[in-house]
Amino acid sequence: MKLLRAMIIIALSFQPVTSMAEQTSGTNVGADLPPKVRTLLLQEMTIILETTKDILEAMVRGQNEVVAKKAQAIHDSFIMKQEMTAADKKALKASVPNEFLERDQAFHQLAARLAEAARKEDNAAQNQLFSEMINACAECHSKHAMGQFPEFSSPD
Ligand code: HEC
Repeated sequence: MKLLRAMIIIALSFQPVTSMAEQTSGTNVGADLPPKVRTLLLQEMTIILETTKDILEAMVRGQNEVVAKKAQAIHDSFIMKQEMTAADKKALKASVPNEFLERDQAFHQLAARLAEAARKEDNAAQNQLFSEMINACAECHSKHAMGQFPEFSSPD
């Protein structure tokens, strides 16, 4: 049942995103970043994807502790923050729109809230927050990663 519910949530969470992608234009952040910062961002994204899959599995297995640990890791192990020098950070801020930075911050906040819901063993809140997280991935990609994910902007 939990697996089914998780699948439904994921399916539903993608619906508003595609329509939003059709309506708005964004900036292709990857193309504007200094190469080193872009590499760090792509590394962070790869780890985030793996960790998100781990969270899904832990949720369908009812493993609250694993969900808490992994969600907290997404929040904390912010490669960009950890490995960027002050000059890199300045270059990042100069290259991307504020909207992108705000989205990134909001995404990391969601991860922290998911970790908290898992620590409280609140399954309903975990489902809601996980769905919001997946939505945040697709929304940001549709607006700021068209180079990497051109399918968001192609007609159905
Ligand atoms: C705040 C914006 C933002 C959020 C939120 C976000 N991403 Fe990304 N992601 C990007 C950008 C921008 C790129 C492409 C960068 C480029 O083209 O250089 C990207 C690229 C990726 C890639 C491609 C990596 C590669 O090396 O090819 C994966 C996988 C990915 N993201 C997964 C995720 C997942 C999973 C989530 C949510 C759990 C997520 N992202 C949330 C902005 C975001």
